[in-house]
Amino acid sequence: MRIGMLTGGGDSSAINAAIRAVVRRGLEGGHQILGFKNGWAGPINGDYEEMTLHSVSGILPKGGTVLGTSRTNPFKIDGAADKMKENLKRAGIDAMVCIGGDDTLGVAHKINNLPEPIPAVGIPQTIDNDINGTDFAVGFQSAVEVATEALDRLHTTAESHHRIMVVEVMGRDAGHVALYAGIAGGADSILVPEHHFNIDEVIDRIKRRRQRGKTFSIIVVAEGAKPEGREQVVVNEKTDAFGHVRLGGIGEFLADTIEEKTGLETRFMNLGHLQRGGQASPFDRFIATEFGVAAIELIEKGEFDRMVAIRCGEVTSIPLEEALTVRPIDDRVFNMAKIFS
Ligand code: F6P
Repeated sequence: MRIGMLTGGGDSSAINAAIRAVVRRGLEGGHQILGFKNGWAGPINGDYEEMTLHSVSGILPKGGTVLGTSRTNPFKIDGAADKMKENLKRAGIDAMVCIGGDDTLGVAHKINNLPEPIPAVGIPQTIDNDINGTDFAVGFQSAVEVATEALDRLHTTAESHHRIMVVEVMGRDAGHVALYAGIAGGADSILVPEHHFNIDEVIDRIKRRRQRGKTFSIIVVAEGAKPEGREQVVVNEKTDAFGHVRLGGIGEFLADTIEEKTGLETRFMNLGHLQRGGQASPFDRFIATEFGVAAIELIEKGEFDRMVAIRCGEVTSIPLEEALTVRPIDDRVFNMAKIFS
């Protein structure tokens, strides 16, 4: 078969491990693999190259994606969907492997359901870990590692200076990164988008710690978290091709408010894109490899419009449609976070 592959949306550290697995397992199965460049822009522009063992040699530990990425939505640009269909046909594509988050996978689901369907399968990839139906998406673990290391480092300086340190992490409308890194990094408050938070309660916690002799506090806030009575803080109102605004600024807002209300020296730090860069964790490389192999297996079995997933340690697959809603945080994990803060 001639199998196309693309990586779309926000990148993360283990995408190349998935690309490598698709190519190596694909070639092993006697298929040709064509790598489309820069997400859905690749099929729209007919921009692709045939992938060989040489193209994936040495990419396993490298962050980012050798195919490039973009937030292009072929169904939102005039004439783009037709160009995409034409180019995929001209390239002789029998099936696509689409690696990305809900936006990329949403397009994959759409092309499977066109009047003339383009068969496609998905691999979940996003640091946000907000894709339903899979316990983990490629990239999440590595982002949690970066954020946890940052919290460890910030602890020592916060302690020396007796300061409050507010650390903003990514995750869009989901609090998975904040919760996992916050728990692993011993944060004193973890604030997530799924539950409005009360600033006075955060301050009370800081004060209670001071009464116990702890003169510093670390607060982890997800970029999408909302204080009671307020909406998410955004960089600006502009939306991308999938209708998302750029979140960011809640950390600074919170730090200013805490300092104003308590008089305690407070600093903020936005970890931003650091969470998406650098080397992937071994676990991420491992599941990315499992997912790449499983994606080719799905195609060989003719099981399209599905996403590979990992559930309770088992690699499986689910209908793409089921993956497209935001995966809720686990209430147990949320409540556990409260015990430690
Ligand atoms: O979806 C991944 C993500 O990193 C989100 O956590 C974040 O809100 C967004 O992408 C940032 O996007 P960009 O790289 O376009 O600034």
